[in-house]
Amino acid sequence: MRRTCIRLAFVILCACAGSAAAQSPIHEAPPSAPSTGRVVPRGEPGQALHVSGLVVDSGGKPIAGASLYVYQTDHEGYYGVKPASDNRNPRLKVFLRSDAQGAWSFDTIKPGAYPGGQVPAHIHFEVSAPGLAPNVFEIVFAGEPSVTSMMQTNPAFSVRPIENGRVTERIVLR
Ligand SMILES: [Fe+2]
Repeated sequence: MRRTCIRLAFVILCACAGSAAAQSPIHEAPPSAPSTGRVVPRGEPGQALHVSGLVVDSGGKPIAGASLYVYQTDHEGYYGVKPASDNRNPRLKVFLRSDAQGAWSFDTIKPGAYPGGQVPAHIHFEVSAPGLAPNVFEIVFAGEPSVTSMMQTNPAFSVRPIENGRVTERIVLR
């Protein structure tokens, strides 16, 4: 019995260590990062979007100073200058910190889907705050044919409408 318990504990320990090692570290914004910014330079081709929202805890209380790292492809689906597309070094990105009300926003363009694939256009978010689990997810856009029903329920995705060039997102850290 004792040997079984020791073996079980070893398996659990290994499984946890493995999953932690498999996760990429979260990119963290500088402490002085603004709460509003631009992902794209002025004149970037594409449909203009204004994306805004809140960071809150599981009780709905706003989190001030939360770190946001946002990145995306250009309007043709490339992370770098075409034909480069390395999502570890995206050209279009911004670091933000939520303000005292938990609010943040940025101006960008609607990203393009990856060339030749079935992956819907998306904007990546990495959001974190001390003492809470990071929230890493992608906004995908409601009504696009490659957005699947799985994405409606999977927390790795947030299916959001574009309304008059605006997208809103409520980010919960638990
Ligand atoms: Fe991506």
